Amino acid sequence: MSRQVEAMVGYLKHTVRAQSKYKIHSPFVFGFYQDVLKDEHIYIQYRVVNRLRKELETVSRFIKRKDMGARCKDYPCDQRFVRVKDIIHHSSVNRKNGEFLFRLIRHYKPSSILELGTSLGISTIYFALAAPDSRIVTIEGCIDSANLARENFDKTGLKNIHVITGNFEDKLALALNEMPSPDLVFFDGNHKKEPTLAYFEKCLQHIHPDTIFVFDDIHWSAGMEDAWNIIRKHPLVKVSIDIYHMGIVFFKEELSKEDFTIRF
Ligand SMILES: C[S@@+](CC[C@H](N)C(=O)[O-])C[C@H]1O[C@@H](n2cnc3c(N)ncnc32)[C@H](O)[C@@H]1O
Repeated sequence: MSRQVEAMVGYLKHTVRAQSKYKIHSPFVFGFYQDVLKDEHIYIQYRVVNRLRKELETVSRFIKRKDMGARCKDYPCDQRFVRVKDIIHHSSVNRKNGEFLFRLIRHYKPSSILELGTSLGISTIYFALAAPDSRIVTIEGCIDSANLARENFDKTGLKNIHVITGNFEDKLALALNEMPSPDLVFFDGNHKKEPTLAYFEKCLQHIHPDTIFVFDDIHWSAGMEDAWNIIRKHPLVKVSIDIYHMGIVFFKEELSKEDFTIRF
């Protein structure tokens, strides 16, 4: 089966499994559904990202991509030089999911955010716009991408973001030293089973009951499916929510252990 067909079948399975809102009995998860997922308000901050995205979509300049063994989402892994506009198209969070991240941050108000996988900084900008008073640490292994992300943060006037350049394997411990108890962690790089589980385990040592983990591309490959299934079944995870492109987990002690699949 080709990747495209596999993805279509995966999405169909997801929609069949998805719970209707009437089956969401947990008030906490219903709040997530109503106030985060289905909030259709067009926030003025979206314009900042839309403008930047539009601008970057016209940039045909090549940047040198460092291959860290991480599987790339849509372009060939051995491609060493990539156009900025292709990165925006293939690697950065899209508008729908970026705006979801914005609303998630706006709703739960994390004051410390850790991101694995900055790329050009699009998701980071959604975070910073939603929580301008938060501290954000983001890690990126590709030097050219990290530099371009820094330029984008300057351009959008965002001052609360610290970019750490280097491999997650080397830099995650440093980031967790700087931010020992993050309120939210976004895992968006090296979409493979073992590394994803390793980052999860490492970050798990730094959670508090209100910490939120968000995993990107949980159904992107069989390995990522496995990783997601292991994560959601972890005894410390209370509620997991699968919205197909992302998986969100909560650790709140008062919640009963439950997995949700919600169509988005
Ligand atoms: C999907 S992109 C991140 C997109 C970004 N969060 C956004 O939505 O705008 C993943 C990024 O993770 C970086 N990456 C992948 N594996 C890595 C690793 N082991 N260490 C450091 N960076 C890595 C890649 O260079 C790439 O830029």
